[in-house]
Amino acid sequence: MLLLGIETSCDDTATAIVRDGRTVLANVSTNQDAFHAKFGGIVPEIASRQHLALLSAAVADALERAELSLPMLDGIAVTAGPGLVGSLVIGVASAKALAYASGKPLYAVNHLHGHIFAPFLGRDIEPAYPLLALLVSGGHSQLVHVDSPTHMRIVARTRDDAAGEAFDKTARLLDLPFPGGPEIDRLARDGDATAIAFPRHRAEKGNLDMSFSGIKTAVKYFLETDAGKAARPADVAASFQAAVVDVLVDRLDRVAQLAPYRMAVLSGGVAANSALAAAFAAWGERTGVPAYAPERRYCTDNAAMIAAAADRQGAAVLADARTLAANPNLPFVFASTV
Ligand code: KG4
Ligand code: ZN
Repeated sequence: MLLLGIETSCDDTATAIVRDGRTVLANVSTNQDAFHAKFGGIVPEIASRQHLALLSAAVADALERAELSLPMLDGIAVTAGPGLVGSLVIGVASAKALAYASGKPLYAVNHLHGHIFAPFLGRDIEPAYPLLALLVSGGHSQLVHVDSPTHMRIVARTRDDAAGEAFDKTARLLDLPFPGGPEIDRLARDGDATAIAFPRHRAEKGNLDMSFSGIKTAVKYFLETDAGKAARPADVAASFQAAVVDVLVDRLDRVAQLAPYRMAVLSGGVAANSALAAAFAAWGERTGVPAYAPERRYCTDNAAMIAAAADRQGAAVLADARTLAANPNLPFVFASTV
């Protein structure tokens, strides 16, 4: 299938044209960071207004880059949730209008399912099931057992902050600009990851959930001590990052024991983290489970991954162009599989 993807769940106005869920003919993303940076976080009202201003041009741009026109497509895939409601409605309204006007099928995709299929973009690899997905973004951190594109369940999740949120909040403690994840990643390259022993959240018996707020709080208190005031920011960044990566790899190890996984994928904005990407690759080598992370541009939010998910989920995510509504709390599990 040749699909137009539209993603506006947060602050990236993104469109893409993807063939068969993996060949990316165009990938357009207008990042709004410059508009939000001075507020130290995403301002939903600004995000929504920017989507409205940018989306039509982003759709036209994707079609132009792919040298295609709307009638040549097989359908339109849009993020229906979860996300910021004011942002989601812009993408959904636009996708509905395009689908209605062109008579093409409309696919309503869960943003998180999009992240799961991002590693297959631009590659000649197909998912092998059961597949284990480690999904780490600014809003979510979870390990997902995937039996098929439409049968999946969350096996472990964060109880408090998402990994990306912990990166962003810790960056603020270090006076680094927003978004903090890439800043910590960069700073940590010159740091000693063993300089400070920040706490690692341990799994409890029968419960593999994670927690990241303790690490962030430990950084906060450490920075208030004399040792903290004297510490090199690069060492703090590297030690914090190592603690987050350790917790994620620990859970990966534990969840991997639960089923004979044939593949593992790492995805979401935090998948762009160099220490996590290296640890994930090393985990794959150690366990023998083929482990794939997306190309960097497909780690953070993008529309190609939405088209990739729609392509594989097909009829299960077909929506009515007259009635589809954005759902900021869209459930992760398909209604039919609960
Ligand atoms: O998936 P994403 O683009 O948006 C959400 O759906 O949340 O993820 C954004 C998150 C932010 O918290 C950002 O700081 C984090 O991903 N991030 C990183 C890196 N690049 C982005 N975190 C750590 N290291 C990075 N290199
Ligand atoms: Zn995301």
